[in-house]
Amino acid sequence: MYKPLPDSLTIKTSKINGLGVFSKEVIPQATNLGMTHLELGKLILRTPLGGFINHSDTPNCVKSSSLLTRQQWNNLNNLPDEKYNHDFKKWNLITLKNIKEGEELTLKYTLDKIQDLINHLMTSKIIDFAVSPIKVIDFSHLNLIGIEKYCLMKNQKQSVTRSNQNGFQSGNVDLSEKVLRNLVSNLISETHKLCDELQLKKPAKVNNMWVNINNYGNSNANHLHPNCLFSGVFYPSQSYPKDCGNIKFQHPSHDIMGYDWDRQQINFNKYNSLTYQLSPRSGCAVIFPGWLVHRVEPNLNKNFLRVSMSFNIINSTKEK
Ligand SMILES: [Fe+2]
Repeated sequence: MYKPLPDSLTIKTSKINGLGVFSKEVIPQATNLGMTHLELGKLILRTPLGGFINHSDTPNCVKSSSLLTRQQWNNLNNLPDEKYNHDFKKWNLITLKNIKEGEELTLKYTLDKIQDLINHLMTSKIIDFAVSPIKVIDFSHLNLIGIEKYCLMKNQKQSVTRSNQNGFQSGNVDLSEKVLRNLVSNLISETHKLCDELQLKKPAKVNNMWVNINNYGNSNANHLHPNCLFSGVFYPSQSYPKDCGNIKFQHPSHDIMGYDWDRQQINFNKYNSLTYQLSPRSGCAVIFPGWLVHRVEPNLNKNFLRVSMSFNIINSTKEK
């Protein structure tokens, strides 16, 4: 026979709100009183237990979630194994303390029952799914003067054409050059920390590095760095004027987001911004995923050569 409540519970008029769930006997702490809610796809079903229990800021019960496999569900309901072919999420009511006979059982809701259902059972928080980690690291302890001088010497060589729009871009530099060794080793150790933070496999190595020099009006068009774990840029000059050209990153869903959320932002934040930009800072390196589209704004300072070194980082053990 179907029983909407365990034998130890009943529904009575509550001093808190309308009807509530009350104990008919002493119930020990940590007793599982059965299911309050069941998640079926996008649908949340409440049992009588979940429907009548009232809120308290000092509750004597808590909800505990668990997964019910399709086999368990079908067995529980004497159904053939193929009846339901997906798993269920369910919430049970657990006593937090010993419950006296006649005591009302309570749960802590955030606002009210409906809000609690929304907050805790369906979307308890915003999940940062499509995040683009960008790390800025201070390497100002390195030999900046030596590295900048090395870059400027490269400027005398033939430029390649990649993302640069009229600026100078060298070919790949020799990573074993003495002046670059500390920069390369520091980049590897910082990348390893980043891999740990992001739970990505190590070891990493700097695969290649090149020099960029943007004169007045020069820029770098939107591009990305495929086949890399990370890419980045290092700024060796002693100072960078504000108008020398920011690096600008583009949201991975820039095009459709720009259409659907056009002028919908009240305040810009990491969720609703189409782009994020950083000004070059002396001695700083910026490391970001190679899949993140970026560009460099035009250097609008007539008296400044904007010098930087770009690099690609790969997992040194990744199979091709
Ligand atoms: Fe780049």
